[in-house]
Amino acid sequence: MTSEKLPTEAVEAAQIAALEAIAQAPDLESLKEVRINFVGDRSPIAKFSQELGRMDPALRAEFGKVVGQAKSAIAQAFEARTVLLEAERDARVLVEERVDVSIPARKRTQGGLHPLTILTNEICDLFLGMGYRVAEGPELEAEWLNFDALNIPADHPARTMQDTFFIEPLDSHLVLRTHTSPVQVRTMLNEEPPIYVICPGRTYRADELDATHTPVFSQVEGLVIDKGITMADLKGTLDHFARSIFGPDVKTRLRSSFFPFTEPSAEVDFYFNGRWIEWGGCGMVNPKVLRAAGIDPDIYSGFAFGMGLERTLMVRHGITDMHDIVEGDVRFSQGFGTGGR
Ligand code: FA5
Ligand code: MG
Repeated sequence: MTSEKLPTEAVEAAQIAALEAIAQAPDLESLKEVRINFVGDRSPIAKFSQELGRMDPALRAEFGKVVGQAKSAIAQAFEARTVLLEAERDARVLVEERVDVSIPARKRTQGGLHPLTILTNEICDLFLGMGYRVAEGPELEAEWLNFDALNIPADHPARTMQDTFFIEPLDSHLVLRTHTSPVQVRTMLNEEPPIYVICPGRTYRADELDATHTPVFSQVEGLVIDKGITMADLKGTLDHFARSIFGPDVKTRLRSSFFPFTEPSAEVDFYFNGRWIEWGGCGMVNPKVLRAAGIDPDIYSGFAFGMGLERTLMVRHGITDMHDIVEGDVRFSQGFGTGGR
């Protein structure tokens, strides 16, 4: 073979084709194809390298130089194009995947506790701190526990259909509890004194919904049974309770009253914003109730109280209409900094 017979032109043609393909590859994906067809082991330029081995050694050096130069030109062009396309891709991704922090966030409202639940928790915490235990009872209650065991006679006006939700069939003797006082009886039947419990819960009466009444309301009951418990303990406990809930300056008073399950009995009022407001009922647990629950009244005495929680919340927060508490409009809860924003 003479140098004229060497396929240098074919090598040049292969180089031109490769450089053109590299220059025209629009992106890294296409450049991968170009690599297989024009740069890799099965490309025309690689074939020339392979042919070198079969050549006359005299010609090999000259042709080797031609092929080598073509190969390195192609490799350089490929490298350069790769760097360029990578830079282009990076710049594009930065724009495409940019996060626009100025777009207004989508609102996600978060649930919150109802103000009544918050108040209930607050009261339970207060009494837990004084060594009480939280006790609960069912809302569907035995008539005997809601009335009889509390010394409320069968002909008591509270036991009529107008006041109490009786459950059918009537001989089931079940009622929706009208107060939390049956939890007192449940506790005394199940536990030995000393007893210190606080009993929050939902209660039901056939009252119309108006500004100060709702048929479904909440009470919190307190019960203490121990040796030597007196009315002074009751008064001191109520004072502490009232001050914790309404503020350190609040005054309480006991007004003589009647409940069949306490003797003596009183209404507890507190002085708030210039007037006396009825808060709930209280008294010393009637010995008849102690006896019905299996506690010896010659050894033990105790006090009990029961307050309405909706009214407590109304007074503390200046809520004038009970509807706001029971209707579940989140705007009411939001006013307390809870219930979603
Ligand atoms: C009782 O329910 C007694 N069990 C309280 C008690 C407990 C006395 C322990 C002695 C010893 P009374 O019926 O007065 O008492 O109700 C207590 C409170 O519940 C009332 O002062 C009021 O705050 C609230 N309440 C009563 N009926 C409703 C109603 N329909 N809607 C909202 N709150 C009510
Ligand atoms: Mg009352």
